[in-house]
Amino acid sequence: MSLSIVVLAAGKGSRMKSAKPKVMHKLAHKPLLQHVLDTAQRLAPTSLTVVCGHGAEEVEPFLLDQGIQTVIQHEQKGTGHAVEQAKMQFKSSEQVLVLYGDVPLIQAATLRALIDSGDRHSLKVLTVKLATPKGYGRIVRDADGNMLKIIEEKDADEATKKINEVNTGIMCIPGDWLTTVLSELDNDNAQGEYYLTDLIALAVEENLAIHSVCCDEESEVAGVNDRMQLAVLERHYQQQRAYDLMQAGVTLVDPGRIDIRGELQVGQDSHIDVNVIFEGTNQLADNVTIGANSIIINSHIAAGVQILPNSIIENAEIGEGCVIGPFARLRPGSKLAANAKVGNFVEVKNANIGQGSKVNHLSYIGDTDMGADVNIGAGTITCNYDGANKHRTIIGDRVFVGSDSQLVAPVTLEDGATIGAGSTIRKNAPGDALTLTKSETRTVKGWKRPVKQK
Ligand code: UD1
Ligand code: CA
Repeated sequence: MSLSIVVLAAGKGSRMKSAKPKVMHKLAHKPLLQHVLDTAQRLAPTSLTVVCGHGAEEVEPFLLDQGIQTVIQHEQKGTGHAVEQAKMQFKSSEQVLVLYGDVPLIQAATLRALIDSGDRHSLKVLTVKLATPKGYGRIVRDADGNMLKIIEEKDADEATKKINEVNTGIMCIPGDWLTTVLSELDNDNAQGEYYLTDLIALAVEENLAIHSVCCDEESEVAGVNDRMQLAVLERHYQQQRAYDLMQAGVTLVDPGRIDIRGELQVGQDSHIDVNVIFEGTNQLADNVTIGANSIIINSHIAAGVQILPNSIIENAEIGEGCVIGPFARLRPGSKLAANAKVGNFVEVKNANIGQGSKVNHLSYIGDTDMGADVNIGAGTITCNYDGANKHRTIIGDRVFVGSDSQLVAPVTLEDGATIGAGSTIRKNAPGDALTLTKSETRTVKGWKRPVKQK
């Protein structure tokens, strides 16, 4: 059966008080509209069209980049008028599913159930029962429970306002009927808009069967109209992700203090302390521990890795059993072989650290290839940038670099080389020898410390 999906995203969203179009505001680091599109794609529709209007100059290029069709609603004359703009896109489809760009947490399974419910020639409406239905269109039924019409809040009398079953806005409509009936909508209502919700009364008039599905998960159909609602949905989403992690065998010290913005694959028995943020695509193998206040971005973390508090790890690959932090920063292109250690106040960038090698304190290791079992003393700096170009530092196996040394790239320290503390190394250091710079230690006898002048 052919299915067209139309996503309404032309509204202004004035309550966001924002220069950015509402549907481009982010939930878990992803635009609201993208959440809806990802869910829509899961239904494998024959066509997917987004109705843009307010902020189209930002929304349209974002959609065209992903090859998604758009139509422009130049004036926002209501939800019925918005759907009409996409008519050419859905007119030959058997079913048309209408979604809202500002209802981000709707699930594909709920939509699938709506699409597959009732007779395929019927009009299907997703409803929800709310303790406080204020602001929503109310579902009016007859004594036998048949749906008669939807009345918007602004058009409702006191008795209607008491109805707690409301319209989620999500409908599935036979394409041929929708194509002809849209022109019958009028704007004779409190807002002077062409309401999509008036389709219900028209269907009753024309004897088209109406089928409703009541959604039992409020957050799935909740819209974002202001930043408070956005924050509430963000928390709800994060709580769900936290529960999924625990279900998968990860211990969270506090499921209320973790944020997952993107995809996170996990193994078993990992332990995550509070205020950890994951962004992009991350993989954690088994038995990983992550200390408080760490941020992990697009990284692959092997089994048994310990990440100590306040570490920031981005586009990195960390081998089994490594220990990172506290206060370590792994920048893009950091690759650590098994059992390496990167300690406090160490920055690593575009560098390979070999198996069992240690950079424990206060160092910068950039554009470097380091072998196995190396020991880098505190305060060692790879001078990788000459002001114009970046150069590599090559460090062999079993190298020992004394504290506070500078390795001026391009430079090579051969297998087994030792560098004396405080050296500035500008030439290659041979293997199994001591290389050092700077003067010997000398003592100036009788030297006096300066005294404060009166
Ligand atoms: C709408 C429904 C209401 C339902 C509620 C659920 C109508 C008339 N009312 O009301 O029954 O309970 O959603 O959240 O349909 N939009 C356009 N172009 C327009 C107008 C709106 O694209 O001209 C888009 C908006 O960007 C938004 C969606 O349609 O994504 C809903 O519009 P909104 O103005 O928020 O409708 P509500 O008054 O909330
Ligand atoms: Ca709304």
